[in-house]
Amino acid sequence: MTSSFNTSNSLYDFIVRDGNGVKGLVDSGVLDVPERYIQPPEERIKKEDSRICDAPPIDLSKLNGAEHEKVVDEIVRAAETLGFFQVVNHGVPLELLESLKDAAHTFFNLPPEKKVVYCTGVSPSPKVKYGTSFVPEKEKALEWKDYISMVYNSDKEAIQYWPNQCKEFALEYLKLSSKMVRDIVEILIGKLGVVIEDSKVESLLGMKMVNMNYYPACPNPELTVGVGRHSDMGAITVLLQDGIGGLYVKVEEENDAGKGEWLEIPPIPGALVINIGDTLQILSNGKFKSAEHRVRATSTQSRVSVPVFTAPIATERIGPLPEVVKKDGLALYREVVFQDYMNNFFGNAHAGKKSLDFARIN
Ligand code: OGA
Ligand code: NI
Repeated sequence: MTSSFNTSNSLYDFIVRDGNGVKGLVDSGVLDVPERYIQPPEERIKKEDSRICDAPPIDLSKLNGAEHEKVVDEIVRAAETLGFFQVVNHGVPLELLESLKDAAHTFFNLPPEKKVVYCTGVSPSPKVKYGTSFVPEKEKALEWKDYISMVYNSDKEAIQYWPNQCKEFALEYLKLSSKMVRDIVEILIGKLGVVIEDSKVESLLGMKMVNMNYYPACPNPELTVGVGRHSDMGAITVLLQDGIGGLYVKVEEENDAGKGEWLEIPPIPGALVINIGDTLQILSNGKFKSAEHRVRATSTQSRVSVPVFTAPIATERIGPLPEVVKKDGLALYREVVFQDYMNNFFGNAHAGKKSLDFARIN
């Protein structure tokens, strides 16, 4: 069936412009990955080249007990090294996690005409966006992923505009995970020896967005990527992944694993994955690591994941916290308006941690 797309443009139009996505491509019966999806060799993900991260999940319920300090240390240590960790007893009911994964499948299994109504330009709200890959118009090789993203403004707007198949679950998930996000951020900022006002924390965590990612089964997963190497731009990401696996993180600081090695974050039933984003790396003047990560596609089943991104409000100015710079004697990043940071982030294809260069000094 690949022959029905006799030019690269007709393929692009079908997938991107007409909103069929990778799911539509797979449903059309392709047997091989089209040229447009083939990654250069250095970006391909070889399973054999990585190990499974064996760090046990952190039990957040222990924050309320005698082991408080120990759990705080585990969180801080993870944020300073890998920038990724998993948590259990996170306050989001396990049934809700199951419903979210089901809802993601339900949404992406809808016929294309029910999904294209959420494409940019026609979506009933600029806060809701269905699409494929990351920035297709800027990418040489497309990512093997469709997504829907829902930015939170108010309950009323969410109920009015988010897709029926997932809005209740997504909204509940966003709310229940927000408390954990705030607790973790307060722990991390506290460890920097900085006291910041509640209103400042509100602004730093004021933008919240739930995505649903869909990675269809791929005929040649060794040639493609589900998501290319990137870091997340916000403060913290909470991610629900299903049982299929394929999420890899790059080791930045020598730990048990070697620098530069890729570790797979294994699915753990009931756990959520937490990762540090660029915003916390900038605020901490580099102490907390915004982790570079990527996703491999699989040949057998479709994978779903559901991240909640928490980021500063657009007008917020972000830069290394003054107390930290004073201690360090040197600022590694300049102050930037978060809207500008976002424009740069979404204006370029994924390229590892290059997004941070926008704020880096030298
Ligand atoms: C992302 C991301 C990982 C995953 O959406 O930013 O990194 O496992 N997702 O889907
Ligand atoms: Ni990410």
